[in-house]
Amino acid sequence: MRRFGWVIACLAVVCSTFYAFPATPKKSTAPSAAVAAASGVQEALKITQGPYLQAPSETGMTIVWTTNKNCLPKVEYGTSSSAMQIAFNSRHGLLDANTTLHRIRLSGLKPGAKYYYRLVSTEIVNFQAYKVDFGETIRSDVHSFTTLDKKKEGFSFEVLNDRHDKVDPLQIALGSIKWPGVGLVVLNGDMMSDLRNEAQVFRSVVAPCVKAFATTIPFVYVRGNHEARGYFARMLMDYFPTDSGRYYFSFDHGPVHFIVLDCGEDKSDTSKEYSGLVDFDRYRDQETDWLKAELRSEACRKAAFRVVFLHMPPNTSSSTEETRHGAEYIKQKWIPLLNAAKVDLMISGHTHRYAIVKPKEGQSFPIVGGGIDTIIRADVTPRQINVTSAKNDGTEFDKLTVAKKRRAPAWLAWLGLGQN
Ligand SMILES: [Fe+2]
Repeated sequence: MRRFGWVIACLAVVCSTFYAFPATPKKSTAPSAAVAAASGVQEALKITQGPYLQAPSETGMTIVWTTNKNCLPKVEYGTSSSAMQIAFNSRHGLLDANTTLHRIRLSGLKPGAKYYYRLVSTEIVNFQAYKVDFGETIRSDVHSFTTLDKKKEGFSFEVLNDRHDKVDPLQIALGSIKWPGVGLVVLNGDMMSDLRNEAQVFRSVVAPCVKAFATTIPFVYVRGNHEARGYFARMLMDYFPTDSGRYYFSFDHGPVHFIVLDCGEDKSDTSKEYSGLVDFDRYRDQETDWLKAELRSEACRKAAFRVVFLHMPPNTSSSTEETRHGAEYIKQKWIPLLNAAKVDLMISGHTHRYAIVKPKEGQSFPIVGGGIDTIIRADVTPRQINVTSAKNDGTEFDKLTVAKKRRAPAWLAWLGLGQN
């Protein structure tokens, strides 16, 4: 009986050996991270995402990228690709270092100038208080961008919204855009349904944008209500940094003064959907204070056009009082301020239904509401903004012209009797 047991055991070993090692094993071209670690083979340092451009202004641009290992990040940049200076980020006296997500703010740039840039990533192998070991340094290809410029007469910008993690239609839409002349892309909220991790941010937003344009054309991220959901929503600013450090801000390009507003959540803070973890009523009040000052600013008052990006419009058709909570606040508090400031155009999303809401009682400017699969293009000239709406494949289906408003003479404005 014992001999029979040995025979069975030997057969089992032979069978498992053949199962584990097929007759014609496939050659692995790249060892997995686990195999590499076990065998002592180190994966080479590389850029894993980006670079992509954020927080554009006349004098600054933020460059974001990731590496597969912790690094000291720097950027070489200049108006010529042959004579570049180096930039790094420091906060509170300390250089940003030992992370895989890198953000370098270039500042002091010239308006409307073309800049060349190259990423420089140096691996930090060991980071102790009195001993830091650096590994290899890699340099990226040279890329370029152009800073914003108030004096520019005309340019185009593109707006996409409510893509909700659907990558394939987004890629089709980005592939249909005619990029020459586009100075700016705006992602107008709810590009993701709720925020879970870094991989999602890159898969759903960053990677398609980098593939299509974002290494050379900046995009502005307008937070939607869905981007306030999930634990990782607290890290959104790490990936889409703004110059102000807030989700509401303004900037200028050509004859347009852009105002980006953050709608917050659509339901009340006490809605059980938020588990007691949001504070948007107070947040919107703070934003209202900022908006009042912003609309009084010289940049806003003197611009030929004032264009507002706001994910959630005031005119949602939500059927319950609960889901209209945020939109109702916007309608009551922000729209009167925007009317008084003679805003020319608002571009929104959120409803998943494309619509143009023409000026009407209580709303003195048109609102273009992007649908779930629309591309809104605006061609800006000194006298008008031509808005063209298209489907993902580029088929145009709607147009709107926003003419420059006639301004009161300067002397009337000086007397406080009109806006110049
Ligand atoms: Fe939304």
